[in-house]
Amino acid sequence: MINMNAIYKETVETITKQIPFEPEICIVLGSGLGDFAEKVETVKSIATASLPNYPVSTVQGHQGFLHFSHYKNKKLLIVQGRIHFYEGYGLSQCVVPVHVASKLGCKKIILTNAAGGVNTNYSPGDLMLATSFNGTAIKSELTELIGLAALEQRNTFLDFPSKEINLAIIKAALEEKILLREGVYWLTKGPSYETPAEIKMIARYGSDAVGMSTVHEAFYASTIGLKAASISCITNFAAGLSDQKLSHTEVMDTAERVKNSFERLVKKSIELM
Ligand code: HPA
Repeated sequence: MINMNAIYKETVETITKQIPFEPEICIVLGSGLGDFAEKVETVKSIATASLPNYPVSTVQGHQGFLHFSHYKNKKLLIVQGRIHFYEGYGLSQCVVPVHVASKLGCKKIILTNAAGGVNTNYSPGDLMLATSFNGTAIKSELTELIGLAALEQRNTFLDFPSKEINLAIIKAALEEKILLREGVYWLTKGPSYETPAEIKMIARYGSDAVGMSTVHEAFYASTIGLKAASISCITNFAAGLSDQKLSHTEVMDTAERVKNSFERLVKKSIELM
C-alpha cells in the first residue's frame, strides 16, 4: 500500500509555506504546451527542483514549475513539467502533481497532453476532448496506489470525465469557433512509440488517440475527489497511419503550431468553469 500523504508530507508543507493563495483549478500542461503559463497573470512560480522529494522532470518541453496564476477571477495552479513512466518513474511518482494540487485545495483539474491520432478522421493539429479512457496498461498498479486513497475517501468509483467540466470545454470550443473532436484516449507507458500493429489493435478496441500520460492522473484525481477532464492536442498520425517517421520533434512542432487555439480553448473553458 502506498501512502501518498506520508511520502509527500514534506513536499506539500514546503509548497504551502510559499503559496500566495489557495488555487481552485489545476491545469497540467502537456508536451509543447508549456507556454500557457506565460499567457496568464502569474503571481508566483516555484521550481519543482527546489522541492524535497518532488520527481525531476527530464523531458524536452516539460520544464518543472508550479505556477500560481490568475485568469478572470479564477485562481489557478499551473503544472509545467509532467512526470512520465518513460522517464523511469513509477505510478505513485507520476501522480505527485495531482496529489499536490488536491492538498493545496484544487477541486478541478484539466489535464492536457500531446497524443497520436488513431482515428483516421483526425489530422495533426486537431484538439480532442476525452470522453473516456483506456487505462488497461496501468490498471493493476493503480489498485495498489489508490487502494488507500479510495479507503480514505470512501470512493472506488472512477467518475471520469467530469460532465460539468466537459460541458464547459464544449461550450468554450463553440464560443471560440474551434473544432473540438471528442474521443477515447488510450494510455501507453512508452518510452517508444507504438508499432503499427499495436495501433491497429488500439483502433479496434475503440480508441481515437494514444498517449503516454493523463489516464493515471485522471484516475487518481477522481479517486481523491477532484473533477477531471482531458484535452489532447493530436500532434501526429499514430504509427502506421502515415509514411512519416514519428519523432518528438514532430510532436513539439505541431503543438507549437496550434498553441494559439489551445490557449483560447483553455482560457475560455476556465472562464466557463
Ligand atoms: N504515441 C504515443 N504518445 C504520443 C504520440 C503517439 O503517437 N504522439 C504524442 N504522444
